[in-house]
Amino acid sequence: MRSRVEMCLVTIAASTALMQHAAAQSLPNLLPLPNPSGFLETYNTNNQPLDLTGPFFQSLGTNGRSCSSCHLPTEGWTVSAAEVALRFLFTQGLDPIFRTVDGSNCDHNIDTSTLEGRASAYSLLTSRGLIRIALAVPAGAEFTVVSVNNPYGCNETTTLSMYRRPLPATNLRFLSTVMLDGRESSPQTGTEKITYQTNPGDLIFDLGHQATDATTTHAQGAPPTAQQVEEIVNFETSLSTAQAIDFQAGALSAGGASGGPITLAAQPFFVGINDSFPSSFGFNPTGQAFNAMIFNLYAAWAGSSQAAKASIARGEALFNSLSITITGVAGINDVLGPSVTGTCGTCHDSPNVGNHSYPAPLNIGVGDLNSPLDVSYLPVITLMNNTTGEVVSTTDPGRAMVTGLWADIGKVKGPILRGLAARAPYFHNGSAQTLAEVVTFYNKRFNLNLSGQQQADLAAFLATL
Ligand code: HEC
Ligand code: HEC
Repeated sequence: MRSRVEMCLVTIAASTALMQHAAAQSLPNLLPLPNPSGFLETYNTNNQPLDLTGPFFQSLGTNGRSCSSCHLPTEGWTVSAAEVALRFLFTQGLDPIFRTVDGSNCDHNIDTSTLEGRASAYSLLTSRGLIRIALAVPAGAEFTVVSVNNPYGCNETTTLSMYRRPLPATNLRFLSTVMLDGRESSPQTGTEKITYQTNPGDLIFDLGHQATDATTTHAQGAPPTAQQVEEIVNFETSLSTAQAIDFQAGALSAGGASGGPITLAAQPFFVGINDSFPSSFGFNPTGQAFNAMIFNLYAAWAGSSQAAKASIARGEALFNSLSITITGVAGINDVLGPSVTGTCGTCHDSPNVGNHSYPAPLNIGVGDLNSPLDVSYLPVITLMNNTTGEVVSTTDPGRAMVTGLWADIGKVKGPILRGLAARAPYFHNGSAQTLAEVVTFYNKRFNLNLSGQQQADLAAFLATL
């Protein structure tokens, strides 16, 4: 483990590089960008330098924000809480990410005229990297909002405030659904469900719709022009991002390993490519059975005399083979039965990518009040089933706010598991500050009984993705 001081130095180096590049017109292709466990690289599949002048980097709205206010190359194309905290210090909380529309904990009864006021108003953004997502309760929902207990005053019950991490705007061709709750891939919002038959046209359409929504909401602007939308989507879909160098293990594509973004850019994918549901569901169009060997990057390092390499290889093997008894997961156990024996890959099934290759909203309990991790900084939202009268409290109703379905409460997608080291904290609500805490979550939630060494191996592996 690296010391806190070293981690801080690396973060400062990253943001200094970022600030220098803010004035630059482009970033060299494959420029190694530092993060707490090594260097991340983005490969532009057009083989050109990364153009930093296009609409993705322009202020298209009225509040000074661009896509790159929340999706930065140095942070795996999202933001890390550490970088946002530094940005707050460097700009006294005046950088355009600090806007009350959705950057502050709540958008009313706050005072952003003083530094102290801003520090308090933007505390979830600087401590957890969270953006306030305000969504109206869908018409005809199967539930009624009984109460909202929001620590920051956003207690409205017709429009709910959720707090979510920006998702990486990279590696997008692997997506089987856009946004954590899939709301940009849903007929309810005028977008398209992503399917084997209609991909990639559906994805391109959804990303264009998403870019428009991002401009009108986050940037408080008029919709961008068709050409701006096309340029944004062309830009973000040409990016392939992965950790490339690990401080301890060295180059992640050396010695027979195949980490890094160039190999990732060549990774085959289609919707359902390795879906883990029984083939009778027909989610994998080829009908091929699920293969639990999800990651196949570091087998060559197994038993290496270098401790760091051996640990990463053990972590990968655990991801692929550790047996997990899956219980209480909405989206799996309500369909396949109360107890399903699986692995990490049951839910993270896309080969060498780790999202779900078929749209699969799941509730693993990250936003539940009894999550093994601290969620006390989040609102408590209480919903009642209009038919049965059943009552449920959660910190984020997830996909239910898109479909209105009771069964969808708390469901979100599993994100792509690449470029993780650059973008702490983790999970949709930032409740895991480190990858070690992600592992702690799984260890407790699914009673895995992992040894200290196994937990360290898994975290070391995740940091190399
Ligand atoms: C104020 C911060 C902010 C700004 C500005 C912003 N985004 Fe995002 N972005 C987010 C958040 C938060 C999410 C996830 C929200 C959710 O899933 O509910 C997200 C999600 C996305 C996703 C979905 C990725 C996936 O895996 O589903 C894409 C693509 C994206 N943003 C692109 C853009 C583009 C393009 C722009 C500029 C037009 C932009 N964003 C501007 C915060 C921001
Ligand atoms: C039952 C399904 C399931 C299993 C099993 C599972 N995951 Fe997840 N994973 C998810 C879902 C769903 C999310 C998104 C949860 C959220 O943000 O609320 C997620 C999120 C993550 C994230 C955070 C990604 C990010 O961008 O923040 C990591 C890392 C991760 N999982 C690793 C693992 C590892 C390692 C294992 C095995 C020990 C594992 N998962 C097992 C479903 C699962």
